[in-house]
Amino acid sequence: MHSIKDNIAIYQEGNQINKSILFIHGFPYDHKMWDKQVGEFKSSYYCVTYDVRGLGNSPAGDGQFTMESFVDDVESIIDELALDRPVLCGLSMGGYIALRAVERMENKFGGLILCDTKSEPDNNEGKLKRAAGIKKINELGVKDFVEEFVPNCFSGNSVNNLKEYNETLGRSLNSDPAGVKGCLLAMIGRTDTTQYLSKIKLPSLVICGEEDKLTPPEHMENLASSIRDSQFVLVPDAAHMTPIENPAFVNRVIKKFLEKISKN
Ligand code: MLT
Repeated sequence: MHSIKDNIAIYQEGNQINKSILFIHGFPYDHKMWDKQVGEFKSSYYCVTYDVRGLGNSPAGDGQFTMESFVDDVESIIDELALDRPVLCGLSMGGYIALRAVERMENKFGGLILCDTKSEPDNNEGKLKRAAGIKKINELGVKDFVEEFVPNCFSGNSVNNLKEYNETLGRSLNSDPAGVKGCLLAMIGRTDTTQYLSKIKLPSLVICGEEDKLTPPEHMENLASSIRDSQFVLVPDAAHMTPIENPAFVNRVIKKFLEKISKN
């Protein structure tokens, strides 16, 4: 099922009476990055994915996004679909959104899955890189930006051999430049959620690709150790895009986590 609410494209699979999982994709991708997880879990969970404002089928509008407006979108999806404490699962930018959403309204969630992400905001070097990205999009177009950005998110093996790599890249190449720039601005302006990690009470699963260069394993292990009730898992044969690069492994880990939290 596919619906548009508040200009956000939302996709629902599975039976609404089941417990729900709300998936938030990374940048500059769309809801389809969770296809393999939705395929696996829709028989026992109500799986909700959506396109972050400005990406996929969610229009960019004026492109003036903030992390807070992204979290407002999460809140309105939960309220409008009447989701009862969904497990929130976010990758990278989706993880930034998830962490801020948990900081703002933890009682709305039943569990947290963080994939290849971090709690710290951009440092100066990171901000300047994003500013250079915006300049590149303005001067050369979104394709140049995407062609440089996306290969860094995948392992060399995925780039060369995984058909989902080409499909994912192809969709990103078609992104609306205003949406991509809006996301970059929202990420530049995001707050630091590190202080909240030790306050998180949700059962949490932290996943990181062994070859992730953007949010490396040591960094994510550290993040996991700050969350009281958390489990850290390294994903073999994967870089930053674990759910696409090693879906079988990621699904097994998520399944075990969901089974564990459903017993509590
Ligand atoms: C992502 O995968 O969402 C991006 O790597 C996030 C970022 O650029 O910080």
